[in-house]
Amino acid sequence: MTRLVPRRGDLSGEKADLIVHFHFEGDDFPASATDPRFRKAIAAVLKGDRFEAKADTSLLWHGDGRQPAARYLVQGLGRRESFGPEVLHRAAAAAGSRGSGLKVRRAGVAIAPPSAWGLNPEDAVRMAAGGFLYGCYRFDKYLSGGRGEGWPAELLVGTQRTDPGQFRGALREAREVDRVLRLARDLVSEHAGYLHPRRMAEVARREARRAGIECRILGEAEMRRLGMGGMLGVARGSEHPAVIAHLRYRPRRAGSRKAPRVVLVGKGVTFDAGGISLKQADGMEAMKADMSGSAAVLATMLALPGLKVPAEVHGLLMIVENMPDGRAFRPGDILRIHNGKTVEIKSTDAEGRLILADGLSWACRKLKPDYLVDLATLTGACVVALGPGCTGVMGNDERFIGRILRASAQAGERMWQLPLYPEYREHIRSDVADVKNSGIRFGGAITAALFLQEFVEPGVPWVHLDIAGPAYYESGYGYAPKGATGHGVRTLLQFLRSLS
Ligand code: BES
Ligand code: MN
Ligand code: ZN
Repeated sequence: MTRLVPRRGDLSGEKADLIVHFHFEGDDFPASATDPRFRKAIAAVLKGDRFEAKADTSLLWHGDGRQPAARYLVQGLGRRESFGPEVLHRAAAAAGSRGSGLKVRRAGVAIAPPSAWGLNPEDAVRMAAGGFLYGCYRFDKYLSGGRGEGWPAELLVGTQRTDPGQFRGALREAREVDRVLRLARDLVSEHAGYLHPRRMAEVARREARRAGIECRILGEAEMRRLGMGGMLGVARGSEHPAVIAHLRYRPRRAGSRKAPRVVLVGKGVTFDAGGISLKQADGMEAMKADMSGSAAVLATMLALPGLKVPAEVHGLLMIVENMPDGRAFRPGDILRIHNGKTVEIKSTDAEGRLILADGLSWACRKLKPDYLVDLATLTGACVVALGPGCTGVMGNDERFIGRILRASAQAGERMWQLPLYPEYREHIRSDVADVKNSGIRFGGAITAALFLQEFVEPGVPWVHLDIAGPAYYESGYGYAPKGATGHGVRTLLQFLRSLS
């Protein structure tokens, strides 16, 4: 694990394998380079190489023999007008990825003065240091010999504060968040032959115990008692029974006011073959990532004790495998969800909403949340609507939606709201049951959310995050690395920390 070390100044006097600076398009030198001699030297190099500092570009300089570090990486930020936490996190992650490729042992990121970035200094430190570590991540468990440790032993963080020790808190948080993100990304990257439902529940239990949070495992017998026909129906085609992990975090001292209660529900389909409505073969391997929602909920829960979040938070991991089989549920079957509503199955591939329906209705009845959030790789339609890099946000409470959107902007994760037009409810009307599990092709992300809304008790503020796009990239997407991202965790933590 990387040691994060706060330093005063722009790191121009530091010995290191790599020092990262950040540079706006149109500027003569990186705003993070504050030492006059270093600034002059680097400005000459940038000019000589005609480096324009467009977003997602960088320049690597080995110094002219007078600098103590082996390399300097100048990361382009694009234009000042479009700068924000997302841009900084992305640039820092690109730098981390570069550093990881160079196998650097001692690295540094230089933070510009607050006036240059317009970010509060703690956020700037979190984005730059957290982003760098984020970019260092590799899933190399199955590579013979591995690629070696994917992260540096030490990351220096240079700031203009007179007392850089003030950032110790923000750095500790960045490391904590990085730790749980790695866990989420490892789980999503795991193949489904290893990470089947029982194993995922075991990991949740083990990690919860380590973190000192409660974890209760619910098996199929309990689900039958609770009438969870969605979970039991989807799991029938798999050799692995359905399982729910219920995690609970309680803040140490609730203070004078009662801490708000938040419930996070995650879709945990360890593999989605589509069931009897079998998916096409091409690209099906990516459906090992269909448990990304649950992985994000687990990671979020595990970070809560370290971040001292002022809320009572429950995490429900709804874990199943969706497979075709002689015993599998079929199109035309009718399932009864925990709240008593019946669902006609149009497609066994619209399975995520069935397991979330049980989770959401149980959460409303049993836990009576002040805030209810679900995370799910729910629809391909959401990826069609917003592209691969963005989460679709829907819900029944505009104020709550606004808070989540603000948290996502501050955390640097892209999320965008889609409307829940009540007229579209028509598309999931059934003649034989209370609702059916899929509608027409158009607006599929919205009809999926309208389906979920049927299982949220009126009056419970609820937000649905469709992370089907950004949870997992089948190929490298722009700056983003191939594979699992842990998307959603940083937004949820940002939101939860804002509840004080
Ligand atoms: N897990 C998929 C959605 C998905 C697609 C996630 C692509 C990530 C990338 C989900 O269970 C599914 O199969 N949805 C169907 C719904 C349809 C049958 C109504 C879809 O999107 O095609
Ligand atoms: Mn599916
Ligand atoms: Zn699915």
